Amino acid sequence: MTAIARPKALWLGRWGFVLAATGSSVGLGNIWKFPYMTGEYGGGAFVLVYLLCIAAIGIPVMMSEIALGRRGRGSPVDAIRRVARESGRSGLWATLGWMAMLCGFMVLSFYVVVAGWSVSYLWKALSGGLAADSVEGMAAIFTANNANPWNLGFWSTLVTVATMAIVGKGVQAGIERSVRWMMPGLVIMLVIMIVYALFSGGFKAGFLFLFAFDPGKLTGAAVLAAMGHAFFTLSLASGAILTYGAYLPADQSIGRTTLTVAICDTLVALMAGLAIFPVIFANGMDPASGPGLIFMSLPLAFQQMPLGGVIEVVFFLMLAVAALTSAISMIEATVAWLNESHGVSRRRAAWGVGIVLWIVSTLAMLSFNVGADWKLAGRHFFDWLDFLTSRLMMPLGGLGMAILAGFVMHRQAIRDELGLPPWLHVLWQFVIRYVSPLAILVVFLDALGWLGAGFDWRWIAAILALALVGEAVISRRSPTPR
Ligand code: PHE
Repeated sequence: MTAIARPKALWLGRWGFVLAATGSSVGLGNIWKFPYMTGEYGGGAFVLVYLLCIAAIGIPVMMSEIALGRRGRGSPVDAIRRVARESGRSGLWATLGWMAMLCGFMVLSFYVVVAGWSVSYLWKALSGGLAADSVEGMAAIFTANNANPWNLGFWSTLVTVATMAIVGKGVQAGIERSVRWMMPGLVIMLVIMIVYALFSGGFKAGFLFLFAFDPGKLTGAAVLAAMGHAFFTLSLASGAILTYGAYLPADQSIGRTTLTVAICDTLVALMAGLAIFPVIFANGMDPASGPGLIFMSLPLAFQQMPLGGVIEVVFFLMLAVAALTSAISMIEATVAWLNESHGVSRRRAAWGVGIVLWIVSTLAMLSFNVGADWKLAGRHFFDWLDFLTSRLMMPLGGLGMAILAGFVMHRQAIRDELGLPPWLHVLWQFVIRYVSPLAILVVFLDALGWLGAGFDWRWIAAILALALVGEAVISRRSPTPR
């Protein structure tokens, strides 16, 4: 069977895809969201579940998405439709692509607000606006920055315009070039901050908070949050990785690229944790301070470090660039879809989508000032966007992708795309068919409280064992079953 050939812009050079996918996955999720969620959900237990989810769900699902994108060579809607049809299945699977595109759009609507924080902090760092000598002082700066909708709106609008301008121009060159220096730069900044943290007096407490496992803290909600974050941080089920996969040349290994991206992403998150929590404990700050956590804590550390003023500027610059390379990927799917399926030029598509995005993101931005009381079931609009995407759409989308790659896509097609050694393919297939979907379902049901206290985890082991036997029997009967 031959892959459907579509003339597509491919990434420049061998490292193009890896750079772009790393640029997509490494972002505010690693440096802003991971630390504040870890703080909110009590530390080590959350981190452990997050790492398990990356390994057992994130990596196999990412491989599936890249394979789907490359096989179908198009936006999520078109690629999935083509792959499903090629495998003799209903084109309705494309619904999954719609959901992914919507998810990417919704993530971007609140992401530009946080990216706006980062850019405004870069500006403050440059203009000396981050001078305070206590956690309370830093918290006051953060609150004041949020309180004025014109100010906050200015920064998120700036990010929206920058994102759309880049996406409108076409993805490749710019992203690859910026990630090439942004990633090493970011890592160097984090290393400097970790070295500082080692001497800050809070390192041991920070380290233990991140890595000491306390199962008592593991509520169903925390596990769902950790799983959702694994999807978020790897840019899964939101059209980003699938669309980038559509531009991946046929001769590149999906397994190896996925592993590279996932390892980089995880390392950056853990490094961010190691840089941030010592500062938090050394300054007596509450790790559960919420979304403002890094903005209220890090500037304090920068003030105390030698050359802190310079480091602060470089750090917020890197953070803004990291946010931008992620933001671009969230909307690439929609722009690619408008361009390919409806013949709209990329530039027009980007600006058209940008206007809608600006309206939604402005509503999200207002959650921090005039709209702080516009709450539904205890959450304001910003929180709803985050909650619906990370806790609902991404896990469900991931489940769909797993089923699509594991059961719907023709076996030979997925085998051709992944090109794994046979034993590894068998392992991948077992994980994508049973382990990932079951894990997603159990986490969901548990968070809803449907499994109850009497739930016995041995059930899971039994189901997996049954699946293993079933697979073995089937594959013995026919060498290439559907
Ligand atoms: N992975 C990005 C981050 O961690 C966020 C993202 C989500 C990017 C969804 C694309 C799609 O910051």
